[in-house]
Amino acid sequence: MGAVISLSHSVNFQLLGVLCFLFTTVPDGTVASSDEANRAASSVSKGRYLLHASNCISCHTDFKNSGPLLGGGRAIVTEFGTFFSPNITSDPVYGIGKWTFKDFESAVTKGVSPQGHHYYPVFPYTSYTGITTADLRDLWSYLQSVPQSSALNRSHQIRFPFSFRPALLLWKKIFFSPMKFQSNPEESEDWNRGFYLVATLGHCRECHTPRNLFGAVKTKDAYSGAKSKVTDEKIPNITPDLESGIGTWNKEDITWFLETGFLPDGDVAGGIMAEVIEQSTSFLTPNDRNSIAIFLNSLSPVHNPSFIEQSNIDSAEENW
Ligand code: HEC
Ligand code: HEC
Repeated sequence: MGAVISLSHSVNFQLLGVLCFLFTTVPDGTVASSDEANRAASSVSKGRYLLHASNCISCHTDFKNSGPLLGGGRAIVTEFGTFFSPNITSDPVYGIGKWTFKDFESAVTKGVSPQGHHYYPVFPYTSYTGITTADLRDLWSYLQSVPQSSALNRSHQIRFPFSFRPALLLWKKIFFSPMKFQSNPEESEDWNRGFYLVATLGHCRECHTPRNLFGAVKTKDAYSGAKSKVTDEKIPNITPDLESGIGTWNKEDITWFLETGFLPDGDVAGGIMAEVIEQSTSFLTPNDRNSIAIFLNSLSPVHNPSFIEQSNIDSAEENW
């Protein structure tokens, strides 16, 4: 184009220039719509990445029985009973195909269903509440692209009074407040990315923190380790305490562990963490794993005496 215009000394050349301009506006139109297509494709692929980072896949896919991706039906054993994850594919009957984006946002960040029911915090909306709107949109785009599954939702098998769903409103009033992620301007970009990955998407504290009698995370002991109330197994302290935490691990030890499951002593992660690594942290970019390590290293060390003689946990499968 530019070359043509610069050649247009004569009227003819100018005409040619105008024609040329007219012709290029047509492809311009298609460029705009292919831009849109590119944006949509990039939203789907970003959503896929976020789905791994937040490990929706592990809970919403019944891998044990070769269930369809995100078709639900996975058993999650807790001290309150067994929960079965729902089908979150876009099937209009069996999944969430009739939902709007707002319905999705309210489920994931507020724990409220389109009918106004409250979800059990076994669905970790308590951490996901911080997910940015842009990331929710990408997650939503990806969910639309997953093949629909007609897997039927199963009812939870939980004990009374926990089976009484309306009581969750009270639980949420006491233990939950929806809150968007806020970065800390005094920290680096990498630290903030790590903070977001650990606290919001990766919901690491949901497992690595002790819970009170009502099943709520004890925020002041965040990341200091916990004991499964179902199996009595220990979920390690991941604060940098030298004796009871991961204070002797350097950044590379952490990133290597999150990528491969190998501990610095050559042992391998077992139980539910093996699943977290397989479905989630091994899919992250090296930069993101590095950000997680920066964030974990920056936590205040919490001394937790019950983790000094840390035994091996190999069979925490399905229990947390
Ligand atoms: C630790 C397991 C776990 C993880 C991780 C998890 N979910 Fe869930 N999710 C559940 C369970 C269990 C329920 C049902 C809760 C209830 O019945 O109160 C649920 C419910 C839902 C619902 C409501 C479905 C319906 O039919 O009402 C949606 C939507 C959902 N999850 C999406 C997600 C997304 C998106 C992610 C990742 C960002 C995710 N979940 C991660 C366990 C999980
Ligand atoms: C669903 C529960 C669960 C979630 C979520 C989870 N972890 Fe773990 N994690 C465990 C368990 C259980 C172990 C112990 C595994 C073993 O001993 O083989 C563990 C072990 C670890 C260890 C090794 C510590 C040591 O001293 O051996 C690190 C580091 C770790 N997790 C980091 C993370 C990070 C970072 C996240 C979030 C991205 C995370 N975990 C999310 C359950 C979980």
